[in-house]
Amino acid sequence: MSEAYKIIDHEYDVVVVGGGGAGLRAVMGLAEKGLKTACITKVFPTRSHTVAAQGGISAALGNMGEDDWRFHMYDTIKGSDWLGDQDAIEYMCREAIPAIIELEHFGVPFSRTAEGKIYQRAFGGMTTHYGKGTAQRTCAAADRTGHAILHTLYQQALKHHAEFFVEYFALDLIMSDEGECVGVMAWNLADGSIHRFRAHQTVLATGGYGRAYFSCTSAHTCTGDGNAMVQRAGLPLQDMEFVQFHPTGIYGSGCLITEGSRGEGGYLTNSEGERFMERYAPSAKDLASRDVVSRSMTIEIREGRGVGAEKDHIHLHLEHLAPDIIHSRLPGIAETAKIFAGVDVTKEPIPVLPTVHYNMGGIPTNYRTEVVSPISADPNRVVPGLMAVGEAACVSVHGANRLGSNSLLDLVVFGRAAAIRAAETVTAGAKHKKLGRDNGDRALARLDKIRNAKGGTSVADLRNKMQRTMQNHAAVFRTTQSLAEGCAMIDKVHAGAADLKLSDRSMIFNTDLAEALELDNLLSQAVVTLHAASNRKESRGAHAHEDHPARDDAGWMKHTIIHIDEKGKTDISYRPVIMKTLTDEVDVVPPKARVY
Ligand code: FUM
Repeated sequence: MSEAYKIIDHEYDVVVVGGGGAGLRAVMGLAEKGLKTACITKVFPTRSHTVAAQGGISAALGNMGEDDWRFHMYDTIKGSDWLGDQDAIEYMCREAIPAIIELEHFGVPFSRTAEGKIYQRAFGGMTTHYGKGTAQRTCAAADRTGHAILHTLYQQALKHHAEFFVEYFALDLIMSDEGECVGVMAWNLADGSIHRFRAHQTVLATGGYGRAYFSCTSAHTCTGDGNAMVQRAGLPLQDMEFVQFHPTGIYGSGCLITEGSRGEGGYLTNSEGERFMERYAPSAKDLASRDVVSRSMTIEIREGRGVGAEKDHIHLHLEHLAPDIIHSRLPGIAETAKIFAGVDVTKEPIPVLPTVHYNMGGIPTNYRTEVVSPISADPNRVVPGLMAVGEAACVSVHGANRLGSNSLLDLVVFGRAAAIRAAETVTAGAKHKKLGRDNGDRALARLDKIRNAKGGTSVADLRNKMQRTMQNHAAVFRTTQSLAEGCAMIDKVHAGAADLKLSDRSMIFNTDLAEALELDNLLSQAVVTLHAASNRKESRGAHAHEDHPARDDAGWMKHTIIHIDEKGKTDISYRPVIMKTLTDEVDVVPPKARVY
């Protein structure tokens, strides 16, 4: 039983957890539609990780040459290595165009062409005519596109009178006895007060869990809090084995150097000065999909052609680009390279290494953003009251590998879709149902348990063990042995949570407790990532299994559905990929060999 907390109650039509791009697009859309909307966010909205998105947002606007949303759909399916659901991919690529025009009208300060149109650059895996040409499809605000979008969406949310609960840490969902989500519990970081939010729809927009790894491009806040809340509510996650490594994290610090730098003409070389991507992807070269480029870099390093004293990284060249391109299109990464690598990009190459960047897996949803429970008798059964958007969700539009600039797109298209769907299903001002057995106590019991942890292991030590295990065993290349060892190690780390000890500082500073709660969230996701990876005996997209190097469509063109219980025991099943389109304007793209 929890300590006696004084609970502060709130009632809203819809509560959105997370104030990044997906959350804010949902929040502004919901408020615009007249629904009483709250946004609960762990950090100030404009500090959410979307602010770090650099290169841009894809949409077949055709501002820089011929384009078509059907080409975009084809590229996304191929990029996903045929694990993406084709109804959702059709929806995203078609809706990309109105969603970006809306952003422009909301005030996003996109870079412009000489004629005043939105500037678009080339990105990996983006083609015209179903793989024949190169598309310039990625709409950019220099290399600070996420920053521009996030600030604009926050202004729009304020304009429509959405209410913000800033620096509130969401603890757990409140589930009714019938399995409906009826709200969420949260802890106010500023004063320690406990809040119970009742809502007809709860939208999880809590981002990815990159911080399960030692080196990632993600903010320290990216701890997949929504994914873990879903796990604790007894619901599964989907396709968690698919973790994207971005080819160009700065060697040492992991800071992102945008793929847009290769879109503007940058290229990679090995220790022999060779542009090695020409060997691995003769057509797309440095602009192949991220899984292909990251694997190629890793092979070069393994075979002794890495650069530097330890021969353990690769060079990214921008010094041949005209300085005005750097200053107008890539000012942010020029600054980042100077600060984190001591490199003047106009004179010397940037040392780079594939770095964890994105989670393709997450909370399974349909294209309307409703959370589905795929292992029930009806695999499309919607969990009433619960939606998920952005990196937290697995719609699945990215399948086994996401294309660069499809993430910001996913955020705005599906944030918008959540608002559209909630406006269809929620009656503004409707009375809230009586709470069942779960009245918030489940969340508070967990809070108490972690707050009072009196074991012998510090949060930092256990987190370090988890991050090292993930880095070494759920890596760019995996083997049967590395995965089996990884599963055993991560299970042990998970069990180690029983021995956690909060430092004495936690009585003074609540950051320690917040970090312990985040670690608890990360651990359950790390476990399912490794177990799902160990179970998939093929190579597809970001899951490169050296003992099963081929893609196996007959055996494995299916989504992983994985549960975890309180003790850390996992349970895996599979569901088919959706191979149907929403309209007859486009055909299903059948699987074929994936070459770039
Ligand atoms: O490279 C980048 O600018 C990252 C973009 C993305 O992940 O979509």
